[in-house]
Amino acid sequence: MVPCIFPKRSHLPWQEGTAAFTAPCMSERLVIVEDDPIQSDLLADLLKEHGYDVAVFSEGARALAALEGDAAPADLVITDVAMPGMDGIQLCKALKESRPELPVVVVTGESNVGTAINALRAGAYDFLTKPIDRELLMACVKRALEKRRLVDELRRREPASESMLFGDSEPMRQVRDLVARVAPSGASVLVQGETGSGKELVAKALHMLSPRAKAPFVAINCAALPASLVESELFGYAKGAFTDARAARQGLFVEADGGTLFLDEVAELSLDNQAKLLRTLQERTVRPLGSNAEIPFDARILSATHKDLEAEPEAGRFRQDLFFRLNVIRIDLPPLRERGMDIVHLAARFLDGVCKRDNRAQLKLSPEVAQKLLSYPWPGNVRELENCVERLSALARSSEVSVGDLPDKVRLHQRGRFHVAADAPEEIVTLEELEKRYVQHVLTVMTGNRSRAAELLGIDRRTLYRKLDAWGLSSSAAASGGPNGREGASRDGNGADSAGQGEASAAN
Ligand SMILES: Nc1ncnc2c1ncn2[C@@H]1O[C@H](COP(=O)(O)OP(=O)(O)OP(=O)(O)O)[C@@H](O)[C@H]1O
Ligand SMILES: [Mg+2]
Repeated sequence: MVPCIFPKRSHLPWQEGTAAFTAPCMSERLVIVEDDPIQSDLLADLLKEHGYDVAVFSEGARALAALEGDAAPADLVITDVAMPGMDGIQLCKALKESRPELPVVVVTGESNVGTAINALRAGAYDFLTKPIDRELLMACVKRALEKRRLVDELRRREPASESMLFGDSEPMRQVRDLVARVAPSGASVLVQGETGSGKELVAKALHMLSPRAKAPFVAINCAALPASLVESELFGYAKGAFTDARAARQGLFVEADGGTLFLDEVAELSLDNQAKLLRTLQERTVRPLGSNAEIPFDARILSATHKDLEAEPEAGRFRQDLFFRLNVIRIDLPPLRERGMDIVHLAARFLDGVCKRDNRAQLKLSPEVAQKLLSYPWPGNVRELENCVERLSALARSSEVSVGDLPDKVRLHQRGRFHVAADAPEEIVTLEELEKRYVQHVLTVMTGNRSRAAELLGIDRRTLYRKLDAWGLSSSAAASGGPNGREGASRDGNGADSAGQGEASAAN
């Protein structure tokens, strides 16, 4: 156990909601990690002079153990780079994994661009070189702590925003981490995911965790309205701009001022509306229909689509320049079938919610029901699961929901049958080889249609591309199905036929 040299944490003024973001908070804890005692003393004195509590560690590993074990409550870490044992970059990386909310400022003796890039890649908040400029350091500390306070305050105010994005699977943890990291910035975010996978929920979480949380979150579904209506909704119109325009109407850009504008199903925007949207985003002013006025607006733009928006410009359906504007940061939501046990946990959570709402005794999922839920591919994703749970709850006759109450498509779903035969040890192939052959086989069956193949395999298209790339198959006949869809399947590592006949044979 690493001793904690901080006094007990006092009650922090911003937690009372006063001067939440700007007032300096002098009880903040700063951790210095520096192996040179002269340097660490200088730094500690300077920070104490400014009213901060300071703890010093001379080794990265000890600092990490204390910070991870919460023995050293900290609001900011300032670390040297070159230290014996764990260096500052490694420490920063490790902290980003275990304490992602904790800002780390990296300080080094070498003013070397490579080290700076490494530090920032490791997740450092900022990078300073020695000898440390006192003013620069204090400005950096203030900025880092201010951002930290902002994120804390937003989390405190909206505890539901992140937790509502439920899921413990690795892909969902990554989504939540990314949401928490990019929410405080003003960057445009494009959320991609299958229908019902939670795109709007992600957009709302981004809004609620941002400094714009108190201002409006305004959403428009670009697929649900005809192009002319999308145009007038988004940009507004002047009185008399068209026959029914009896009064002027401010558009959604203006309505979302100070907040967030969410463009749902953005791939469905007409090319005309795409051109107008691009102009609006470039100029940061909106021109209502039938008017020459340029109205400035301040809205963060979030968008979502179930399509692979990157592929749309190639097909001439989406402007590439607009794609780049919207896709500053992309969040790919995994389909539910790729979230493993999240399916069961989400179902239990929904069941819990439905029982509470209906004021009825708690219902449980039987292991058989859980098994069925896990093997169904959920094309409608979380929304479909929610509906399924509603049904289970409505039909339940005892305290446990039963397989018989599942919808037929879930209850009767059978995973595809395929034959795996490897009777002699020398015939056994690695899992990766098996996967490669099976993917090749599915591509062959689908005559090279990668979208359909990915769908059948239960992975998204980008995952399929990544796998083909890794196997060096991205441009081969194997991946395109070949002229008759057979060549690829006949080329595996051993020159053996992996396609199988009739049944899908995943091994030779
Ligand atoms: N991770 C999650 N945790 C809890 N509920 C979720 C999660 N993801 C989605 N949901 C719920 O599933 C339903 C569908 O979510 P949402 O509307 O955000 O999906 P979508 O991707 O925007 O769907 P669509 O493609 O139809 O527009 C909502 O009721 C939402 O609350
Ligand atoms: Mg949606």
